[in-house]
Amino acid sequence: MQVIRNFSLKEYNSFGIDVRADKFISVSSLEDLRRLLKKSYSSELFILGGGSNMLLTRDIHKTVVHIALKGIKVVAEDENEVILEVAAGENWHELVLYTIDQGFGGLENLSLIPGNVGTSPIQNIGAYGVELKDSFESCHAMNIQTLEEKDFSREDCNFGYRNSVFKNELKGLYIITSVRFRLSKKNHQLHLDYGAIRNELEKSGINDPGIQDVSNAVITIRRSKLPDPKEIGNSGSFFKNPVIAKRQFEELQLEYPEIPSYQVSSDEIKIPAGWLIDQAGLKGYRHGDAGVHKNQALVLVNYGEATGEEILNLAKMIQDKVYSKFEVPLEAEVNIIN
Ligand code: EPU
Repeated sequence: MQVIRNFSLKEYNSFGIDVRADKFISVSSLEDLRRLLKKSYSSELFILGGGSNMLLTRDIHKTVVHIALKGIKVVAEDENEVILEVAAGENWHELVLYTIDQGFGGLENLSLIPGNVGTSPIQNIGAYGVELKDSFESCHAMNIQTLEEKDFSREDCNFGYRNSVFKNELKGLYIITSVRFRLSKKNHQLHLDYGAIRNELEKSGINDPGIQDVSNAVITIRRSKLPDPKEIGNSGSFFKNPVIAKRQFEELQLEYPEIPSYQVSSDEIKIPAGWLIDQAGLKGYRHGDAGVHKNQALVLVNYGEATGEEILNLAKMIQDKVYSKFEVPLEAEVNIIN
């Protein structure tokens, strides 16, 4: 395990924010992870996965532990299903492509989501009508303080919309080291109803799609709307889509009859934060190198040299503007490190 001092994290967070870590260690085996945890106080460590869902606003005066555990293996299968165990440091999208290549169904709608496998359960990543929890079997994790290892079932994880036990009661307590997925080998359950998937398939003249076609459609849709973090720093959706009371929604609807919405329960409605920000006139807004993406107002971007503080100030300005126009509070989805 090599310790690098005064290390720039620019390449290790998808926002491309140039902050420094006092020390940086990349860990590629469970033994090394155990050894490192044994000799460190948990308060001295900062655990880093794919860095795709965080906004770094300051230098990290700790030892940054980069989880680089690799490996994908089949741990059980029958003629219908397979259980795949994937190490935390595997790249999410490469995993999706691998499963499609093997003919395993379940992850195709989650194509092109940035980040690593180990952090995917923390926020229960989701897109186009599918969430991680739908194919999640269990995950294995190590307690940072006691080194105890534990398997978490789907129930243990208490998944919600961009949420799990690892963002709440167990925040900062465990390092997820691997995730098991239950995937289909045949009779794949395709999810085509969300957003533009069916449209995209029709455009390509596909009327009997397979998992590969769905993945291709999702990739095309995402590329048309969402910036590639390799080209423009970003963290996907910066805010969660807010859930409001039906009564407030009906009032908004009187003024804005075209407001998009999804029913969450009999008295709660989810509305797209991107629409609210767009209506507040902020789509494409730019101040210095911090901006609101021109095709999807829910995504904040770093055009190059923005600091975390500048992105955070932009986020606050957006929250204020949206609140004063609609009286709807926006909550960050991205983990803000300050
Ligand atoms: N909209 C606008 N203007 C905008 C953006 C969106 O009017 O600038 C409207 C759209 O026209 C549409 C609605 O808002 O009617 C919803 O937009 P979209 O389908 O793009 O989805 P979203 O609700 O903005 C969510 C996820 C995305 C995910 C997409 C597709 C959250 C916070 N975001 O976005 O997830 O890819 O649905 O499933 O739930 C992410 O989490 O990083 C992410 C990209």
